Amino acid sequence: MSIRRIVVISREAQVTQLAQQVGHEIFVADDPAEALDIVKTVEPNLILFDHRFGPSHICEFRDTAHKHSIDSPPIVAVGADEGDIGLSEEFKRAGACDYLHGMQDYSRLEQIVSRIKNEARTIDFEENTTEFFLDDHAASVSMVGRSRALVKTFGMIRLVAASRCNPVLIVGETGTGKELAAKAVHALRHPKGPFVAVNCAALTANLLESELFGHEKGSFTGADREKTGLLEVAGAGTMLLDEISEMPLDLQSKLLRVLQEKTFRKVGGVKNITCNATIIASSNRNLYRETKANRFRRDLYYRLNICPVIIAPLKSPDRKKDIPLLAEYFLRTSNICPEKSKKINSLTNLAIEALLKHDWPGNIRELRNVIERAILLETTDKIGLSNIIIDSAEYGELFSQATNYAKDFSLEKAERELIARALQETGWQKTRAAALLGITRATLYAKVKQYNIEKGPLLAGSLPKESQDEISVPSLPQYATTS
Ligand SMILES: Nc1ncnc2c1ncn2[C@@H]1O[C@H](COP(=O)(O)OP(=O)(O)OP(=O)(O)O)[C@@H](O)[C@H]1O
Ligand SMILES: [Mg+2]
Repeated sequence: MSIRRIVVISREAQVTQLAQQVGHEIFVADDPAEALDIVKTVEPNLILFDHRFGPSHICEFRDTAHKHSIDSPPIVAVGADEGDIGLSEEFKRAGACDYLHGMQDYSRLEQIVSRIKNEARTIDFEENTTEFFLDDHAASVSMVGRSRALVKTFGMIRLVAASRCNPVLIVGETGTGKELAAKAVHALRHPKGPFVAVNCAALTANLLESELFGHEKGSFTGADREKTGLLEVAGAGTMLLDEISEMPLDLQSKLLRVLQEKTFRKVGGVKNITCNATIIASSNRNLYRETKANRFRRDLYYRLNICPVIIAPLKSPDRKKDIPLLAEYFLRTSNICPEKSKKINSLTNLAIEALLKHDWPGNIRELRNVIERAILLETTDKIGLSNIIIDSAEYGELFSQATNYAKDFSLEKAERELIARALQETGWQKTRAAALLGITRATLYAKVKQYNIEKGPLLAGSLPKESQDEISVPSLPQYATTS
């Protein structure tokens, strides 16, 4: 059982050695003040705290961390070999989550590590720390984040799910996880009920109406049999109205009636059907602005906007923290290439830096795609900068123009192109180019030789003759660059 990063606060080599038995990366601080800086930068999973500093230092450490909005991971006090029950209690009162009886207490440390890992995997709904929000009820609902903005969103999801608030509005840019948030509300509120979703932008007004309410046989041309509407199918579960802003105005007023009266009729029907479902509406447009432009009913807007769940875009400075966490999460959970995902266990610092620099217009969906692409391309056990290919739209366009694309495109060629461009971009400074690509200088030399890449003003000119009529890619910046 192991854990990724441990900060050791001790001047004793033995405490560091103990940490090395369960941690991949160990950071040593001589005192709690130095540890604060390290914790802020590396965001460790555990802190080992030498008992010699005394319990009051743990209190102080936690208070200062809190004051500076630094997330502190669990702190374990490492006691003297002879142990002392009284001291152990004192440390726990001061904020340590556990106490080791000396430097040889390896088995207890293993138990603690395993507990921390399990806790991170279970629901955090009831806790304030909310580093992770993982719903074990439904395997499909795993929402990950630790930024202040997302923790707030998690809090709202919990609140709304525990209340009787109906309808629920979820807003956020495209790809921010609105549907996932809707599923989280559903999993908490109706763990056994059905979850049905309809995209209001995908259907014509008439079709959408009969999808939602159902219709009686013969109620319109083509209605050759009776149809049950999704509001009825949702039963006592959840009905997600995705992209609600696109719902036609007259249907909006019918929806408003359902929300107020909790009943509806099928198209062409006379019987009132009770609506027990939680209605969740999601939108990536600003609905208030839509009401101003008379595209969305004001009364429906106010009805929906009671307790909105707002998901911040990934580009907001407040969500930066989520980027590495999400990247690692997708690395761990992606099934795009299971053998490779198993082998690849992390990202290089340069790769993470590149992810942090991008502004993610497609939000989490775009990030997931970038990581999955990197998994496919990576050949080592760490995702390097060279395989972080952000925004391949430009390439897509170029590729579609290249008539011989399908025949000629290969990873080898892509690698050759990329290396040539890195060299060109850095003015043939091989150390910088290697850093940019996330490979060693030696590997770069070998590849330059292998692909016979020569110095030249133009990329195409720098490539071997046979590749000159292939896809040429104009500039490097679409690949993430280092500063
Ligand atoms: N916090 C998160 N943790 C893990 N995965 C996430 C998170 N947020 C979003 N995702 C993933 O990102 C992808 C996009 O999420 P989702 O479809 O819910 O976004 P959306 O806001 O509904 O997008 P759109 O507006 O385009 O419909 C999904 O694969 C989802 O699982
Ligand atoms: Mg969606």
